[in-house]
Amino acid sequence: MTDVLKLSKVTSLAGTIEVPGDKSISHRAVMFGAMANGKTEIKNFLMGADCLSTVSCFRKMGVSIDIQEGLVTVEGKGLEGLKEPSEILDVGNSGTTTRLMMGILAGANFHSCIIGDESIARRPMSRVTKPLRMMGAKIDGREDGQYTPLAIRGTSLKGIHYESPVASAQVKSAVLLAGLQTNLEETTVTEPHKSRDHTERMLRAFGVEVNEDERSATVKGGQRLKATNIFVPGDISSAAFFLVAGAIVPNSEILLKNVGINPTRTGILDVLKMMGATIEIIPQQDQTFEPIADILIKTSTLKGTTISGDLIPKLIDEIPVIALLATQAEGETIIKDASELKVKETNRIDTVVGELSKIGATIKATDDGMVITGKTKLTGNAAVSSHGDHRIGMMLAIASCITDEPIELHDSNAIGVSYPSFFEHLSLLTK
Ligand code: S3P
Repeated sequence: MTDVLKLSKVTSLAGTIEVPGDKSISHRAVMFGAMANGKTEIKNFLMGADCLSTVSCFRKMGVSIDIQEGLVTVEGKGLEGLKEPSEILDVGNSGTTTRLMMGILAGANFHSCIIGDESIARRPMSRVTKPLRMMGAKIDGREDGQYTPLAIRGTSLKGIHYESPVASAQVKSAVLLAGLQTNLEETTVTEPHKSRDHTERMLRAFGVEVNEDERSATVKGGQRLKATNIFVPGDISSAAFFLVAGAIVPNSEILLKNVGINPTRTGILDVLKMMGATIEIIPQQDQTFEPIADILIKTSTLKGTTISGDLIPKLIDEIPVIALLATQAEGETIIKDASELKVKETNRIDTVVGELSKIGATIKATDDGMVITGKTKLTGNAAVSSHGDHRIGMMLAIASCITDEPIELHDSNAIGVSYPSFFEHLSLLTK
């Protein structure tokens, strides 16, 4: 059954919030903790549905994972300690769980099956199956390993130098995690543009040597992970919704505390600056191997911009809410080189253009992105849907803060995938 919310305009947004832990980092902390020897404590873990899918999969492989409010403890017994799951590993809606786990399972000494929801079943897995097969992996699935359900017969792997056609941290991470299981061989992944580097940073925290240059990362097989404690910074992809809200809602001032500002993720901050937003980034003392800052945003006068090339992987998840931002900027905003949007939780070119058009935006789809013309008054008075995509749902909820008439948001439950306290935070800030 789909759920429906009626959402209306607000007069201003003001106050301080701390967005939940980073999704990418939370997944990796559980996976690497499970692969390591010893006890890994994870603070500020994201309790969203996606990360809980990762927890559930590793529990099915015999890993003891204890969850208390904001603290997750993983009792790792090393890679050899993972057990053959007697049940199918259900990844829910999570692409990160699917693809990173494929790299881990390819080298395990057991058989496993992966399944997910309808959205996962449409997402391309050959981008991971292909390089893993080059390493010797035995993976099968619908359309020759392109789609879930997948079956993986763990086997011994060899190192490769893989030139990935896409800038994807999920592909890069899967290959590197498989590479760690080779017999002292080197595995390198080179990408067309650098993708997020959380795997490289966190593997080092777990005592693994990772070499990097501009667009490549290399690991040597046979290295063991040693348990460590992880503090998960706030997710900049979640903060992005309130950064945009602060910029476009009149009379607003929002302070976001402890947001991760890893330079491979901060494209949204670059775009806000390019568009002329009133934004201040206040670096905080790092508690971790990931940089952190408080970010202050105020209602801004915005101008259109062009977003392309190297910048795209640094903000790929933020494009839905950037499109909303662009409706409130004077002139044209062009987003290009972003065809990866088509293979996210939904085809985000179609869902963003379709839903924003319903509420009065001037936006058109292109082959590899979209063009938005502003500044437009958003009308509302329409039924819109997340289409089961958390980031589309949150973007539309932020849009409702400035629409003339209320909107009806269908399927808002999807938001729980990455930001279960989203509406609580929105109402905290609503004046
Ligand atoms: C992620 C990488 C990105 C991103 C996703 C999380 C990760 O996907 O869109 O939300 O945690 O590695 P791709 O690797 O497919 O670009």
